[in-house]
Amino acid sequence: MLIKTRDNCDIPSSEITDEETFYNRRLILKSIGLGMAAASTRVGASQRQLYQTKDSITGPDWLEKKLTGLRSGPYSTNEKATPYEFVAGYNNFYEFGTDKSDPAENAGGFITDPWAIEIKGEAEVTGKFQLEDILKPHDLEERVYRLRCVEAWSMVVPWVGFPLKDLLARFKPTSDAKYVRFETLYDPEQMPEQRSRFASIDYPYVEGLRIDEAMNELAFMVVGVYGKTLPNQNGAPIRLIVPWKYGFKSIKSIVGIEFTKRRPGTTWQKTNPREYGFYANVNPNVDHPRWSQARERRLPSSLFSAKKTETLMFNGYAPQVAHLYRGMNLKKNY
Ligand code: MTE
Repeated sequence: MLIKTRDNCDIPSSEITDEETFYNRRLILKSIGLGMAAASTRVGASQRQLYQTKDSITGPDWLEKKLTGLRSGPYSTNEKATPYEFVAGYNNFYEFGTDKSDPAENAGGFITDPWAIEIKGEAEVTGKFQLEDILKPHDLEERVYRLRCVEAWSMVVPWVGFPLKDLLARFKPTSDAKYVRFETLYDPEQMPEQRSRFASIDYPYVEGLRIDEAMNELAFMVVGVYGKTLPNQNGAPIRLIVPWKYGFKSIKSIVGIEFTKRRPGTTWQKTNPREYGFYANVNPNVDHPRWSQARERRLPSSLFSAKKTETLMFNGYAPQVAHLYRGMNLKKNY
């Protein structure tokens, strides 16, 4: 992605903390029995929650109950899942900092209960709904999806959630609903980057999909990972996963969903339209202006044993989504 540093020069964040530096730093601290929390000079709630294990994270009772009845959903890959420490420790969540370890370090105290989502725009049913009511009619399922970041690293993640299309249908979008716009919480008191004078993007973070993309069977609303409640750094309490698009479309900690007539402006596309498009479909044939998208580093990998694999069209989900883009020039509509 693009980071405006203090002297205003753009550096991809992948160059700031490579996975090896990140992982070694954590291993060293763990091996000397300190853990990042003890070694850190930071204080406060977030410090106590650093490197929480997946079993130590609990959501509200009603969500924990729903997580016990998990079934295995369709479209899961058989590829080996990325270890939990990477899924929950190597993150992009700029609201909590731009370094890959910042979200895990800074989001521990983030308050995700109570939580509400406001539904607006071109739909028969609109209003503000508590998360419990949003989730009530949906059975949760696990889907193991590939996640391909625009920065050319990838993971395989066992998400827990339910199809976005089932949620959207409940609000009865009208024929004027051509797009769906999603918005992340704006709360500078809780999200340090939102109050920074040097913030690299405008907040709140916004993403969008064409309505037919949003209604595709693969688009997934996520409330958990590895069978447990979603860690805050992964976008608790509810986020989107759009597995055939670059990771930045998969917006976290959603508080707003709006059905719109016009294509919404989206965060990265507005920040740097030459580098990040609205569609952001994973495409090995269309390079990022500053790097190739033909291959990817599958995490965990290091500078010495980079696990490079070929990037697949639509991240390997062409059978489910290629028809959405038939006849479109994907070089222009990147
Ligand atoms: N959502 C918000 N609100 N803020 C962000 O900075 N980063 C995006 C996406 N969703 C981001 C976000 C990017 S660039 C990626 S690659 C994925 O979240 C990363 O998700 P993960 O940390 O769960 O792997």
